[in-house]
Amino acid sequence: MKRKPILVTGGAGFIGSHLIRLLVKSYPEYQIFNLDNLTYAGNLENLSDIQGEANYTFIKGDITDDVFINKLFEQYKFESVIHLAAESHVDRSIEDPLAFVKTNILGTLNLLNAFKFLWKEGFNNKLFYHISTDEVYGSLGDVGLFTEETSYDPNSPYSASKASSDHFVRAFGETYGIPYVISNCSNNYGPNQFPEKLIPLFINNIINEKPLPVYGDGNYTRDWLYVIDHARAIDLVFHNAKRGETYNIGGFNEWKNIKLVELLCDIMDKKLNRTSGSSQKLITFVKDRPGHDYRYAIDASKIKEELGWTPSVNFEQGLEKTVDWYLSNKEWLDNVTSGEYREYYKKQYH
Ligand code: NAD
Ligand code: DAU
Repeated sequence: MKRKPILVTGGAGFIGSHLIRLLVKSYPEYQIFNLDNLTYAGNLENLSDIQGEANYTFIKGDITDDVFINKLFEQYKFESVIHLAAESHVDRSIEDPLAFVKTNILGTLNLLNAFKFLWKEGFNNKLFYHISTDEVYGSLGDVGLFTEETSYDPNSPYSASKASSDHFVRAFGETYGIPYVISNCSNNYGPNQFPEKLIPLFINNIINEKPLPVYGDGNYTRDWLYVIDHARAIDLVFHNAKRGETYNIGGFNEWKNIKLVELLCDIMDKKLNRTSGSSQKLITFVKDRPGHDYRYAIDASKIKEELGWTPSVNFEQGLEKTVDWYLSNKEWLDNVTSGEYREYYKKQYH
């Protein structure tokens, strides 16, 4: 059987690995190519259960290398691209903005150029799907929601680089007629997330009875979505969205950081058979993140109304599943928190 070649970038990362699993299992008629250069955030262990599947191929490579990318497109003739590869952590972008410009902007541009060149005779049935973030919209006050019409107003080097890549995708649509869609999602959580982000970092610290570094006063708000619900949304957008559209994806699930951390502590005390309240004692308020966005909240009514998507996992259930996964995957956690992680942690938190 000749399978349709689909390129997924960043498939060894957190969201990418859940998406790849869903696509490989649901669509035997596709050949899913996972292009990832395995940075500190990329981990093939995330995909060990599907690595032998006939419709899955891993390619190690860097999206910032234009010569390599052009050859790859020529070789495999990808009909669609779902682009997730990125530097994704805000705190790292504050330390090293250039790395974010290279991967998130130049890397995206390389993929767009290669796609445009490959299909220069016509874009029939082709699609470039760019995965982006709600952070491009900047920060909300206590009320209001981000809609697809909200103006871009990025505040961190990470969100500025993602905003720029979104603009390039749109510009390639307008200028060269590339068929594209973009989705902008809120904060994801779930299994396999690298423990630099709030939830897995705090799970790891609670396990090890280390301080829980809450930035500022902890009153910052995020809208949390279980990662598998994001992968389901991407699947729907990929197959059903109108070309040239943007979709916001969110959990209808806002939490102040401090309330979330308290809930997480309570769940973990129970799971670890610790005295109630013992993990909360680890909460430590630390220096704030520079340029810290106060609140994100997504109006996801467009994807709900047009494509029938809603989140399937409620937050308490999702958080419990996430904690269970980390507790039963200690080896995964130990592997990713050795080496470079220790240096990063020391620099960021001491
Ligand atoms: P992640 O950091 O877990 O994974 C990123 C992956 O990209 C890794 O596997 C890494 O090895 C790979 N990668 C990085 N640079 C690369 C390069 N130059 N060439 C090839 N591969 C490279 O990120 P994530 O949290 O899974 O996010 C995936 C995408 O979704 C990103 O584009 C991010 O901006 C977006 N997003 C994330 C969230 C979230 O809450 N995590 C929310 C909305 C949108
Ligand atoms: O909104 C979508 C975005 O969500 C994605 O585009 C990003 O890739 C992803 O990293 C995430 O960005 P945030 O900055 O919101 O996520 P993070 O987990 O880093 O932080 C969540 C909140 O918790 C934020 O208000 C900062 C705070 N925080 C974070 C860390 C790591 C702390 O208080 N202490 C910490 O140690």
